[in-house]
Amino acid sequence: MADSMSATDFAQCVEPSRAKRLKTATHETHMRLDQTVMACDPFSSLERYRLFLKMQHRVFFDVDALCFHRELIALVPDLPERRQLHLVEQDFEDLGLVVPSPELEPVFGEGAIDVPTALGYLYVTEGSNLGAAFLIKEAKKIGLSESYGARHLAGAEEGRARSWRTFTNALDAVDLSPAEEARAVAGAEASFERVFVHVESAFGKVQTLR
Ligand code: HEM
Repeated sequence: MADSMSATDFAQCVEPSRAKRLKTATHETHMRLDQTVMACDPFSSLERYRLFLKMQHRVFFDVDALCFHRELIALVPDLPERRQLHLVEQDFEDLGLVVPSPELEPVFGEGAIDVPTALGYLYVTEGSNLGAAFLIKEAKKIGLSESYGARHLAGAEEGRARSWRTFTNALDAVDLSPAEEARAVAGAEASFERVFVHVESAFGKVQTLR
């Protein structure tokens, strides 16, 4: 009955793909983040790129434990192969830099997690690989590549689009109650907000559009 439909029920009828609903819900935040990061000139020199790597290191450090989480692997079986923290670490090593130790505790450590919230975070880090198709082109202009210094921006072997489809198919198939659904959206929003914190901490006081 339409009268008793919650906002979440309604949204699910209009857009059956959870990934697409998350995209719509976070569209504006992503645009602000994209503009904020690019305003930091991360690809104008290796020195600026080093700060970008620091930011990315924190982004992937936050979610690293999720890649080994049994409950999540049951939902997204190839999650361990989607891990990216070690690639960022190799990028530091390629450039002869020491991997910085993050000042903040990761968002997800070992132990219990809220699965819907974690799915929201994973949507953001996995989705960032789509934008990376654009970023790797910029990185190449300063001498970096998929095998030197910008490994974490490389696409999956099977291709970015296919890898994203596999992930979003798994994400869409998870059965969540309306309350859990709301936590997934909040998780995606929180994940983006957390990236703003990492941008500021890596680049210093920047003109963020938060
Ligand atoms: C640095 C500047 C960035 C630029 C220029 C950028 C650009 C883009 C572009 C062009 C897409 C769409 C690709 C496509 O549809 O094929 C995209 C998708 C996405 N990006 Fe970014 N991005 C940036 C940073 C980030 C960061 C730092 C994150 C999060 C850590 C992020 C998260 C996402 C997500 C979640 C999607 C998937 C949206 C969806 O289709 O559901 N992006 N980005």
